[in-house]
Amino acid sequence: MYGALLLLHLLAATIWTGGHIVLATVVLPKVLKARSPALLLDFESGYERIGMPALIVQIATGLMLAHRMVPDPAQWFNLANPLSHPILAKLGLLAITLVFALHARLRVIPNLTEKTLTTMAWHIIPVTVISVLFVVVGVSFRTGWLY
Ligand code: HEM
Repeated sequence: MYGALLLLHLLAATIWTGGHIVLATVVLPKVLKARSPALLLDFESGYERIGMPALIVQIATGLMLAHRMVPDPAQWFNLANPLSHPILAKLGLLAITLVFALHARLRVIPNLTEKTLTTMAWHIIPVTVISVLFVVVGVSFRTGWLY
């Protein structure tokens, strides 16, 4: 069970983080150069189909892994417990990601024009940096970087 959870968590992480790195470093520069909202919307509509399920799998398996590590969720917020540090860091990164993703989905994407492409870039870049931080914090469970 643990192996299956970790495998799903890592597969979803490759999709979420890898997809965002491709979006930020390959697609976004092309979109900004061509000033083409259509190019961005084209990538988004394709990526969304696997990116969103990946994030949902990530959250579900992440919560189960955290529950396995620290069974009482109230302890996740107890800073005196060193194991809570990476769990809280993950939850904090998740909260920031959800704010950016919801704002992009509900406000920026429906009204995307040449002028608002820069606003969209300022959503893509932080979400990509945060997606990498998720992996760094994930690795810290084993290395103890945050304890
Ligand atoms: C897009 C979001 C996320 C990414 C990219 C991500 C990535 C990772 C990675 C790379 C690991 C290392 C696994 C290993 O040591 O082999 C990990 C572990 C872990 N993650 Fe996540 N994670 C994400 C979201 C979450 C969330 C929302 C939680 C919930 C609190 C969470 C909880 C955990 C836990 C508890 C572990 C340790 C598993 C263990 O070694 O037993 N993750 N994550």
